Amino acid sequence: MIPSYANFGGKIHGGILLSLIDKVAYACAARHAGTYCVTVSVDGVDFLEPVEVGDLVSLHASVNYVGRTSLVIGIRVIAENVKNGTQRHTNTSYVTMVAKGDDDKPTVVPELLLETEDDARRFLEAIKRRELKENYKDAFDNAKTRMDVQDNLHKLSNQRCVIGWETDK
Ligand SMILES: CC(C)(COP(=O)(O)OP(=O)(O)OC[C@H]1O[C@@H](n2cnc3c(N)ncnc32)[C@H](O)[C@@H]1OP(=O)(O)O)[C@@H](O)C(=O)NCCC(=O)NCCS
Repeated sequence: MIPSYANFGGKIHGGILLSLIDKVAYACAARHAGTYCVTVSVDGVDFLEPVEVGDLVSLHASVNYVGRTSLVIGIRVIAENVKNGTQRHTNTSYVTMVAKGDDDKPTVVPELLLETEDDARRFLEAIKRRELKENYKDAFDNAKTRMDVQDNLHKLSNQRCVIGWETDK
């Protein structure tokens, strides 16, 4: 990680890591699919530890799941202090990519060979994660459409915000 990747606090900018994650996900997906792929979504980008200038960052990626035209790539990011050899796991992200054909439409990807129980666990976990995400999206969309601001304003009373307009209540 070179100095020009740092933010104002001297740590590595999150966007640099996101860009690396996206590129590695692309390489992994495109190799499996044998075609061009696009990023659809990135889950689990919680930066647990800062990455320092000078750290050697490694990204370990695998195809965890394939659907008909989509693939989920799991990426584990490790930052290593080259002076003392300490390694830190900074985050694990799951990137959904879709394979595109020459017509720019989603195209079917090859099945995934599960060689170990760990491979099967990752595949099953990806299915579970997708289900949870769909449930969350439905619940969130419903909550959003039903959210009445006036009826819910009291919930802001113990939050760190200030109401800056005249309210009825
Ligand atoms: C991703 C994209 C191809 C999906 O197109 P679409 O017409 O909705 O295609 P489909 O409905 O057939 O979905 C294709 C696959 O994407 C998956 N998909 C679509 N939206 C998704 C989402 N939000 N999260 C996860 N998977 C998603 C579908 O489940 C399907 O997977 P499957 O074939 O394995 O079952 C289209 O939205 C696209 O091109 N997006 C822009 C991608 C891009 O430019 N990325 C770079 C961002 S800068």
